[in-house]
Amino acid sequence: MRRPLVAGNWKMYKSAAEAGTLARAIASLLSRDCETVEVVLCPPFTSLQAVREALAGSPIALGAQNMHWESEGAFTGEISPQMILTTGCSYIILGHSERRQYFAETDEQVNRKLKAALRAGLSPIVCVGETLEQREAGQIETVVLGQVRAALQGVSEPELLKMALAYEPVWAIGTGRTATPAQAEEVHGLIRSSLRQHYGEGVAGALRIQYGGSVKPENAAELFTQQNIDGGLIGGAALKADSFAAIVRAAC
Ligand code: 13P
Repeated sequence: MRRPLVAGNWKMYKSAAEAGTLARAIASLLSRDCETVEVVLCPPFTSLQAVREALAGSPIALGAQNMHWESEGAFTGEISPQMILTTGCSYIILGHSERRQYFAETDEQVNRKLKAALRAGLSPIVCVGETLEQREAGQIETVVLGQVRAALQGVSEPELLKMALAYEPVWAIGTGRTATPAQAEEVHGLIRSSLRQHYGEGVAGALRIQYGGSVKPENAAELFTQQNIDGGLIGGAALKADSFAAIVRAAC
């Protein structure tokens, strides 16, 4: 049985003070229920410290949204896996479509980041997903499974068990147009079959695949009850304590 993983990707929102307040509100709303769900908050780098303090004593984990693959070096503006670890993060989002789309992040870079994150002892969440154009051209399987294969290249089976995947169709992100549970489940099933084919049932049965893209309290339960959907990666609805808590409860 896979433990659902619900993560809030706060993207480039919230000052440190606002982030601390939001994290405290979420921790207090979720203090009594939902031990069956693993919950992660991923604020911007500048709010990691504030959120870490707000989450002290709570089972909610901390994550970052991006990192470089090198441990240190002349990489202006970048942050290393080791630096992320020192902020108290245990999770790291990698290969989000906004990074691929706006910062030209490639499959090869996502693969290097994934290996570096695993070496550092972080739990990566690797995002994959097709654009609307690719979906309409019948390329879902090629694109999504291609991204998964490229990201996981050279990663050992025990390491695979420390990571999660997030299927985030690009056309559903921030658009209010969520994939239907059937549409999402179809792609999650394809990803799981591909994992089964490449790594066997041990990895395929254990690796969590989150869904992301316009998840809200109203549609979360139906998405999360699909056989191959193991929680969600939440953007907009993670920026309000009550809606994020309601989404977490939908995964309980
Ligand atoms: P929205 O929930 O705002 O659509 O964003 C999803 C997302 O990109 C999470 O990483």
